[in-house]
Amino acid sequence: MAQGALPGFRDFYPEQFAERAYIMDVWRRVLRRYAFSEYDGPPLEPLDLYRKKSGDELVGQLYSFTDKGDREVTMRPEMTPTFARMVAARANSLRKPVRWFSIPQLFRYERQQKGRLREHFQLNADIVGEASVTADAELLSIALDIMREFGLTSSDVRAGVSDRRLLQALVLEAGASEDALSAVYAVIDKRGREPVAISREKLEKAVGSSHVADKIDEFLGITDIDNLFQRYGAVESIAQHLDRLRAYFQYLNALGFADWVKLDLSIVRGLAYYTGIVFELFDTAGEYRAICGGGRYDTLLETLGGVDLPALGFGMGDVVVGELLRSRGMIPATPPRTDYWVAGEEEALTPQVMSVAAELRRHDRSVEYSLKPQQLSRQLKSAAAAGASHAVILKTERFAAGEVTVRNLEAGTEQSMPLEDFINSL
Ligand code: HAM
Repeated sequence: MAQGALPGFRDFYPEQFAERAYIMDVWRRVLRRYAFSEYDGPPLEPLDLYRKKSGDELVGQLYSFTDKGDREVTMRPEMTPTFARMVAARANSLRKPVRWFSIPQLFRYERQQKGRLREHFQLNADIVGEASVTADAELLSIALDIMREFGLTSSDVRAGVSDRRLLQALVLEAGASEDALSAVYAVIDKRGREPVAISREKLEKAVGSSHVADKIDEFLGITDIDNLFQRYGAVESIAQHLDRLRAYFQYLNALGFADWVKLDLSIVRGLAYYTGIVFELFDTAGEYRAICGGGRYDTLLETLGGVDLPALGFGMGDVVVGELLRSRGMIPATPPRTDYWVAGEEEALTPQVMSVAAELRRHDRSVEYSLKPQQLSRQLKSAAAAGASHAVILKTERFAAGEVTVRNLEAGTEQSMPLEDFINSL
């Protein structure tokens, strides 16, 4: 039996490739509107790049091996560390803010589940060199504009936003210790993907008190920034982060996305390097895993490249986006396009058929002709099957007089003319 692709890996037949190309076209189109430049890095990276900062969950999913030069290497599971290294290496000469995007194929040995494969293509859009919350608003606006470009609306997709600095202040105010923070984040990150009772048990264990867990549960339920202000506005350590978040919502409103965004303090993000505002995009029906996720990571460039530059970005995979659009019939059909099929009345005309085809291709037309000797009627059937819009027919006598016959295969009409006139008309 023929072997299929590995579990979690995809074969892209032309139909699937067309869907992937459509998604990437939309990504590139929108990123151009935001004046981003495209870049890429190596698909294979030193293992250490991820050990330092990506977090245990991702490091546990690496496709890693020792290469022939005894280096510990891994297929890239995410783009951010590569991006941070590349920018840090040229930090002095790059115009700030850096606005770059990339569409790498990434590899993670994931547990098999809906919306998660072991390879995926991920749009990465990142900004470096701007600490102001205006950059955070600009970034989320890109992700939401992409949703809109796909034809989705705020009733299809919602962005949940939070801020790690605010979350930290709230967790500490609830009475948890600094040491408990990362364990608390891990529990909060898994909430919603775990039974409530289990997640509550883990939270109590992380903070060592059911009273503290109650207080955390309570603020996690607040989805309105005014409510947060009422309860915590007087606590200095919290209020400063609320002010920033309020400006963020105001800017998103100005950019036209107020309806798409909601406060969700349970969004922490699994990766270890985030330091500020974080967000994820979800389908409102709750059928799929996150469509997109990102946020601010102001210390990663320092850790990986020794330059102190604030940064922020997001990743959006092709898998969930594809499933969502497909389920709603929102991926436009792109039939294969053949402009001209060149046909000859007899086999002896094959070199002339080829010359005409070559001339049409020099004029940037998509052209096919039969690669084996065939009756004219068979050739025209093939032309129809290929979906060609026109056939250019070389009839023996007419062609000897310098003429071709151009048939419109959709309308069924045809016209003979000098070859030169036909070529000039293109
Ligand atoms: P992430 O949340 O791990 O973030 O991934 C971002 C998005 O990539 C997810 O929301 C999802 O759409 C897609 N994705 C991730 N893993 C898979 C998978 N196994 N199969 C299919 N799709 C997947 C990051 O990777 C960050 N580096 C993003 C970022 C860029 N943060 C700042 N800049």
